[in-house]
Amino acid sequence: MTRTVSDEQTAREQALIETVVASFAETPDPRLRELMQALVRHLHAFVREVRLTEEEWDAAIAFLTAVGHITDDKRQEFILLSDVLGISMQVIGVNNEAQGDATEATVFGPFFIEDAPEIPIGGDMAFGASGEPCWVSGSVRDTAGNPIPGARIEVWEADEDGFYDVQYSDGRTAARAHLFTNDDGHYDFWGLTPTPYPIPHDGPVGAMLEAVRRSPMRASHLHFMVTAPGYRRLVTHIFVRGDEIGWKDTVFGVKESLIKDFHRHAAEERTPDGRQPGGPWSDVRFDIVLAPAE
Ligand code: BEZ
Ligand code: FE
Repeated sequence: MTRTVSDEQTAREQALIETVVASFAETPDPRLRELMQALVRHLHAFVREVRLTEEEWDAAIAFLTAVGHITDDKRQEFILLSDVLGISMQVIGVNNEAQGDATEATVFGPFFIEDAPEIPIGGDMAFGASGEPCWVSGSVRDTAGNPIPGARIEVWEADEDGFYDVQYSDGRTAARAHLFTNDDGHYDFWGLTPTPYPIPHDGPVGAMLEAVRRSPMRASHLHFMVTAPGYRRLVTHIFVRGDEIGWKDTVFGVKESLIKDFHRHAAEERTPDGRQPGGPWSDVRFDIVLAPAE
């Protein structure tokens, strides 16, 4: 819906933008100057494009105030807002430029914690979390195909009820761990077959999603963070091919290259390490390629 305004009105609106942009001209840090001036231009362009009403401006201020009020050291509603607007994924894309066949990055999410327990190769990162066991295996290599021994792999995921350990009040540590690749750059471990779950949606971001009839659900995924000296840190997930949420992931995190085949197995089928899972299980392969550090 475009509304035409008179030449006189257009000139007044443009004059204001120029004045505000010029007010940042003496900023000593050139990058800060660039950021502030571009921000002003884009925000004013938005206001003018939609002909923002004063009531809508009030509502926007009330919304951002509510986002601030619910945010504390555990709940980061501003990042959630950035996530559901696709801004987080755009920032990740801009900062993880394609390099050969390096594995693509995706959103970090709010549920990573430092110092998750170490497990050996073949270990179990579930630590009692509920869900179907999943054998995850693969390699970590550079863009020339050479194995990267000793790469640190952090993994974390929700249980089958859709909750991370940190969302329970009993202080448990479960469904998270770290491990290191062996001399061949190989890793494997037992995790859980991922299931879909909603982002925290009991706050203003959830209300906004409801108002625009968007679902708060994330596609089923398993988080990875992989680091090795001399390589770009990789924060990513793998997603389940055929997942019911799939491309409707509310934070736009899904990428074709990260969708993997999770093969389902009956309880009686032999597992790669001879473990008896006591029920159905799955397996997935994820070969990781790290880009060189800049
Ligand atoms: C998650 O993967 O858990 C997540 C990512 C972005 C926002 C909320 C949750
Ligand atoms: Fe997650």
